[in-house]
Amino acid sequence: MAWTVKPSATTKIERRDEPWLTEEMKAHYTETYIPRYATRMGALMPICHDVQHRYGWISAQAMEEMAEFLGIASADVRDTVTFYEDFHTSPTGTNVIAVCQSITCEACGHQAILDHVRNKLGVEVHETTKDGAFTLLALECLGSCDTAPCALVNNHRYDNLTIEGVDRIISDLSRR
Ligand code: FES
Repeated sequence: MAWTVKPSATTKIERRDEPWLTEEMKAHYTETYIPRYATRMGALMPICHDVQHRYGWISAQAMEEMAEFLGIASADVRDTVTFYEDFHTSPTGTNVIAVCQSITCEACGHQAILDHVRNKLGVEVHETTKDGAFTLLALECLGSCDTAPCALVNNHRYDNLTIEGVDRIISDLSRR
């Protein structure tokens, strides 16, 4: 998790006319998710996953629409979305490279991997390349400390990473 300081009270929310939560999505949530939980708030996580899956990210407007649909505060939705690294609050590139930065990976050379990717792609962590091909992230423990250093690339975990291995991954993805 990353703590970020932001001027929430004065931040302008970009809006579009078309809703992010379509009638079809709301019907699906009402039929599938809501009945599973004792409160409507309980359905927030699966809805976050669904919105993330459909759009690749969760906009502020989508968070408001989710809050309205569930009858909860927008702040609760935002707290949830920004707490979990799985959810993105801005569009990502076609490929997402997320290097683990927790203690075991740190001890096993994550910084060299991260620096190499930064230099190779010309972006900092949380940035996307100009062509929209790659987003670079740094995540906390991926639960595979015995194979450190590791990274998630498009949600697939790569273990025992080396500079050469990262180069291969990037060039494979660049060819697609
Ligand atoms: S510290 Fe990287 S996988 Fe656990």
